[in-house]
Amino acid sequence: MDGIGTGDLVRFSIAVPEELLRAFDAQIAQRGDGVNRSEAIRDLMRASLVRDEATTPDAQVIGSLTMIYDHHTGDLTRRLDEIQHDYTTEIVSTMHVHLDHHNCLEILAVRGTGTRVHELANKLLGLRGVHHGKLSCAATNASLDL
Ligand code: NI
Repeated sequence: MDGIGTGDLVRFSIAVPEELLRAFDAQIAQRGDGVNRSEAIRDLMRASLVRDEATTPDAQVIGSLTMIYDHHTGDLTRRLDEIQHDYTTEIVSTMHVHLDHHNCLEILAVRGTGTRVHELANKLLGLRGVHHGKLSCAATNASLDL
């Protein structure tokens, strides 16, 4: 991914909730490496591109999908369940933690083709009521014997 982002700079504006921006700025300040907001956002953009590049559709990947959601939201629990039942091959294991009266933390260990694993993640993380979600995955490599 070297070479991306080394050309002329262009300016664009984006709209974000004030709270989100404040939290992001605080996080940047804590890094202590002196980056400014623009540099931090460029880092995020590059990381996103690298992540996609690392996963060819047919490659076998292994990883974890983490979600935090409010189980009182509409029929969210049923929808999460229904989707997961369509991916029994990819979902190796799940862990559910009841965080408080409203919130649940769910962690799924996943394994399968990049296409199927990303498809599953997009469906789950796109549901209304899923507040925070992240898929971390790596391509499996024969030399690692995964
Ligand atoms: Ni729960």
